[in-house]
Amino acid sequence: MSEILIRAEGVSKRFASYQRRATSLKERLVRREKTEKEVFWALRHVDLQVRRGETVGLMGPNGSGKSTLLKVLAGILRPNEGEVSVVGRVASLLELGAGFDGELTGRENVYLNAALLGVPRHETDRLFDEILAFSELGEFIEFPVKHYSSGMYVRLGFSVAVHIDPDILIIDEVLAVGDAAFQKKCLDRIADFQQRGKTILFVSHSPGLIEQLCTRSVLLSHGQVMYDGRPREAVKRLNRMLGVDGVDARKGDVATVGSMRVLDPMSAEPVSEYQCGASVVVEGTVEWTTIPEGEVRFSLKLASPGEKDPVIEVEPRWRPVPRGQLGSSETRFRWMIDALPDVPGDFTLVFGVYRGKTLLAEGKIGVRLSGATPRVIEGALSIEGALVPLDAIADGAPLTEQYWA
Ligand SMILES: Nc1ncnc2c1ncn2[C@@H]1O[C@H](COP(=O)(O)OP(=O)(O)OP(=O)(O)O)[C@@H](O)[C@H]1O
Ligand SMILES: [Mg+2]
Repeated sequence: MSEILIRAEGVSKRFASYQRRATSLKERLVRREKTEKEVFWALRHVDLQVRRGETVGLMGPNGSGKSTLLKVLAGILRPNEGEVSVVGRVASLLELGAGFDGELTGRENVYLNAALLGVPRHETDRLFDEILAFSELGEFIEFPVKHYSSGMYVRLGFSVAVHIDPDILIIDEVLAVGDAAFQKKCLDRIADFQQRGKTILFVSHSPGLIEQLCTRSVLLSHGQVMYDGRPREAVKRLNRMLGVDGVDARKGDVATVGSMRVLDPMSAEPVSEYQCGASVVVEGTVEWTTIPEGEVRFSLKLASPGEKDPVIEVEPRWRPVPRGQLGSSETRFRWMIDALPDVPGDFTLVFGVYRGKTLLAEGKIGVRLSGATPRVIEGALSIEGALVPLDAIADGAPLTEQYWA
């Protein structure tokens, strides 16, 4: 067994919250109670050990303490209880903009960041060109970082973090902010780190990424470790916790939907953001407690979170599945969507398992769509009632100013 680089024992972190603070004089007069100081535990008795060469994915609902735990391990927050020990050089990429000074330029921040990580100036001089090239920031490196977009922050932060040759890389979910090209570069770097036996601890809300990258996954809920083990199992438990796999007692009696993933059909890899109009594959498993009597049908739709009406429905909406193809305990499915709709935004892909019209199980997964596909506006033109023949319009050539001359 390799050496333990990160060790947290019985770590607890509390924050004070003044919940009933009066915000106006009137409120203060009306409410006679005193301001109450409440203590909130963001982490409770957390034990964690990470060995050299491990890639550990930290998951959990919003507010479960993931970022707090990373900050404690990175030495930015001091725990109220428990012990933390970390061996080796740590590079951390925490919340957006953390570790940067807004007034300083990108270049100055590279030096500041590197210095904070214990890199001597002559070493940063030597690495600077490579850091800049990897970040692709070009002339923006001379601009104050307060004018950077979130993606630009991440480019700079990640670039510094991977170039200073740390033993441990700690990343909060910031990677999702970069565009697809930069994400690919980051993932390549992470793979390279893994091959060189480095230790990586990262937070992600993407089950695909966790399953793809991690050797182990830790699930947090209300500041406590709920599971520490196989990434696939952690994803399953998180989904159950979030109630997104439709396993409420009644629905889950017959079947549950497990490990749903959205993949790019070309690379067969999950991508965190898809282009509008792109085709994607949705895959997963249906686990059967009992194979139902009667006709089983699968369905797939794309809905806006919180809205009942689906944005698109894959036609035909219902796909009857012959009994013989259901297997005895598990059915693996792959569903190809030819084209995602031309609406950028965050959506939920909902996969349903029905017997007749009864929903037996449901799986949901978030997808982010970006960009939009330029489309030719179809339709016919008529002038004074006479239809202009299509071929009178220059054969499909793009419209330029000359047509309007
Ligand atoms: N500085 C702070 N002061 C008071 N409360 C805080 C502070 N930092 C975090 N918290 C609280 O601690 C809890 C855990 O926060 P944390 O940021 O660690 O969650 P998280 O798991 O990273 O969530 P997310 O998925 O939204 O990033 C939250 O309830 C949050 O409100
Ligand atoms: Mg967080």
